[in-house]
Amino acid sequence: MDVEPTKPLSLLDRGDERLTLKAGRILDIADPDFQAFIDELIRCGRENLGVGIAAPQVGKSLRLFIMASQPNTRYPDAPAMEPTAVINPEILRISEEKETGWEGCLSVPGFRAKVPRHLEIDVAFTDRHGQNRTERFNGFMARLFQHEFDHLEGILYPERLDKGEALITLEEFTAQTGIVVPR
Ligand code: NI
Repeated sequence: MDVEPTKPLSLLDRGDERLTLKAGRILDIADPDFQAFIDELIRCGRENLGVGIAAPQVGKSLRLFIMASQPNTRYPDAPAMEPTAVINPEILRISEEKETGWEGCLSVPGFRAKVPRHLEIDVAFTDRHGQNRTERFNGFMARLFQHEFDHLEGILYPERLDKGEALITLEEFTAQTGIVVPR
């Protein structure tokens, strides 16, 4: 695997074609290079105040994302959890009911938009220890999972907006919500 753990990861911005690729399944989870990459991806997400980050966002077309919800200045209302590596995920069931909520993305810096997502989802994935897990997520966590899963399919949230909704700048976001975010 072409991973250099000592080299800091850099985020790709919207417009980079690598963000539009369907990512490939991970076959050898125990590979030390892959395990090191997981740690690098967790660090990259934390340094950039992300609540989630997906491998394609740093140019690795792999079915891996990190869920690392923590209240921070970008997402003051996010629930706290340990960073979790989600490998080869599947969405098993989606609720018909959707909820619209604000999203941002490290690959779309400087913007937010209201995005509709399924309110509840049942999912399966493999964790970094090779254990198969199934989980039910609601609300913010369901939104986070769907956003990150989309990265593995080459989809960014601006493609998910309802008709009439648009990206707004962080200045407009602050004016509308009273929430001040750094990026
Ligand atoms: Ni994103």
